[in-house]
Amino acid sequence: MKNDNLILQNFLDNAFNLKTHLMDFLSIKECDLDEFLANAKMNLANSHPGDTLNDVSDFYTEIVGDRHVADLAAWHISSKEYIADTLKLQQIFSRDLVLDFGGGIGTHALANAMSSKVEHVFFVDINETNRNFVKFRAQELGVEKKLTFCKAIKDAQISKFDSIVCLDVLEHLADPAFQIEIFNDYMDSNSIALFNWYFYKGEKNEYPFHIDDIQTVENFFKTLQSMFLEVFHPILITTRAYKKIK
Ligand SMILES: C[S@@+](CC[C@H](N)C(=O)[O-])C[C@H]1O[C@@H](n2cnc3c(N)ncnc32)[C@H](O)[C@@H]1O
Repeated sequence: MKNDNLILQNFLDNAFNLKTHLMDFLSIKECDLDEFLANAKMNLANSHPGDTLNDVSDFYTEIVGDRHVADLAAWHISSKEYIADTLKLQQIFSRDLVLDFGGGIGTHALANAMSSKVEHVFFVDINETNRNFVKFRAQELGVEKKLTFCKAIKDAQISKFDSIVCLDVLEHLADPAFQIEIFNDYMDSNSIALFNWYFYKGEKNEYPFHIDDIQTVENFFKTLQSMFLEVFHPILITTRAYKKIK
């Protein structure tokens, strides 16, 4: 186990060896990696079928493939100070049994698995490529025993989590209010959930896969305010910590 400062420094140095993991897992040559990352955001946006999509989750299970791995990797490398702040937040609140819902390329789940305060991390992601990539990364980093990989929360077979991490995911769901109701069911009075959201498709539709429907968003905020109480922290105001009020 590493101490918190070392974990943060390892992330700031090389995002937990992310480039090496990408090259090995996706069989990309070093000379092609920068171009692969530079085009990632555009490739992901271009792959979205727009209004013809029946079920929002089909985008993540059927269409994105490894494009989301590329997009998230490019983002975590280019915005490492921001991501490091989310890791600092985890260091304040994460303990014992942790759920990372929509865990992506695993930065948060891997950091939690390295923490001595965390007993086990349940990495849940609907995208099979993401799950396989993070499993590979966990093995490379020697923390695989502290992680379980699931497609859905119920597969974890856990009735209560001490910490829930759901970062940059809620805007990808058809019904984010319903999702936080589910989280509430998996919390007790000592559990803490970390949430953020970005219900916006972008100035130039860079995020066509984000939900921005006014009713859906209002319903989300009503549910959030009725079920959760915010816990103040001084780290990063776009990401909020919550405990349950009922
Ligand atoms: C923008 S990424 C965020 C990844 C990570 N939390 C981070 O902060 O970098 C959104 C993630 O949510 C996952 N996702 C989308 N819909 C989901 C669902 N219904 N259940 C679980 N994961 C989902 C996607 O596969 C993707 O990995």
